[in-house]
Order: sequence, then structure tokens, then C-alpha cells
Amino acid sequence: MTGPARLVVLVSGSGTNLQALLDACADDAYGARVVAVGADRDGIEGLERAERAGVPTFVRRVKDFSSRDEWDRATAEAVAGFEPDLVVLAGFMKLVGQEFHDRFGGRVVNTHPALSPSFPGMRGPADALEYGVKVTGCTLFVVDDGVDTGPIVAQRAVEVDEADTVDSLHERIKAAEREMLVDAVGRMAREGFTVEGRAVRFGRVR
Ligand code: GAR
Repeated sequence: MTGPARLVVLVSGSGTNLQALLDACADDAYGARVVAVGADRDGIEGLERAERAGVPTFVRRVKDFSSRDEWDRATAEAVAGFEPDLVVLAGFMKLVGQEFHDRFGGRVVNTHPALSPSFPGMRGPADALEYGVKVTGCTLFVVDDGVDTGPIVAQRAVEVDEADTVDSLHERIKAAEREMLVDAVGRMAREGFTVEGRAVRFGRVR
């Protein structure tokens, strides 16, 4: 790969993970740049963060398409237009479909607010709190066709406090998540990575 790795980041909400990547990419030594930000909804802070950083954005809403497959195809098409080396799902609250897997399989990572394989899905922090675990955390994984089941790139542990609410726990997880994401995506960009079965390793194939 010549030049910085091209990242397309997909968001659905506040975009603090996106912001951490945008901030990291401001340093040329980081080895990556965010070439576009996509979303499945309008009016979110994540899109405003991209606009403030001068990064192109696009929105593809499920309800504007006749089927979920059509939406997936349109999203994949929009992403492909920016020729990404890596697609980062950073708080993207949709499962991507077959077209997306076919085009970008093995080059899509997702950050999840729990320590996989525990608590997959949309309620990671709430499920961890309800279960009563003392340690939870966050996971960056290479997306496969399951729900938060892909090969693990990086994880960080976060202790649960007795006084935690879902929000306070999620905020601490997100702080760990931003560090994990910036560190791991930077390494993927600079060093390359391989996926063999469930093992993800940094570094190029020798
Ligand atoms: C993050 O904690 C991310 O892991 C989670 O949404 C949050 C987004 O925060 N994603 C999921 O739960 C996906 N299953 P952000 O918009 O501030 O980056």
C-alpha cells in the first residue's frame, strides 16, 4: 500500500469513536486517513463531526429502499466509491449484508462495547450490568456474517463499579474503546494484518 490507508467509517450516533480516529489521522505518522463517513440516519453528531473535519459524508436510510438487500447494496456501493483499504463500523447500529461481505469481506472491523464472546448485540453494557459481571470491556473484531462473532483484533477490560448505571459504565467502556480503536486501526494501517481462522495478527505476510 502506498500512502496512508484509506478508511471509510460508518456511524449511527454521537461519533466519539470516529472523532478519536479523525484526531489520530491528523498526524501523518498515524498512517491512515478518513476518506469518508457514512451513516444510516440523518441529523446525528457523527455526521457533524465529519463535516467539521472536512470529510465527505453520505447517508443511506433503510426506509428509503424497497428491501434490506437494496439498502445493503446501496451502502456497499457508496462505500466502494471511496476505495477504502479498511471499513470501520464505529457505533454503526445495523448489520451489513451479503453484498457488503462480498465486496469488503476481511477488511471490515467493528467495535463492540463488551468483551466478546460475552454480550453480543445492541445492549452490550446493559446486558453486562444485568448479568452482574465484575469485568466487561470492548472488542474490535473483523466482521463476519454473525452478530459480533468475527475474529478478534483487540480487546480492553473495564471494571464494573457497584454504583454503575448503564450510562456510566458505557461511558467508561467508550473511553477504553477509543484508545483500543486508535491503537489497533493504526497498527492495521501501518503494519498490515492477516486473518487465519480466528487468529488476527498484525504484520504483512512474509
Ligand atoms: C460504542 O460504544 C460502540 O461500541 C457501540 O455504540 C457506541 C458508539 O459510540 N456500538 C454497538 O453497540 C454496536 N453493536 P460513538 O457513536 O460515540 O462512537
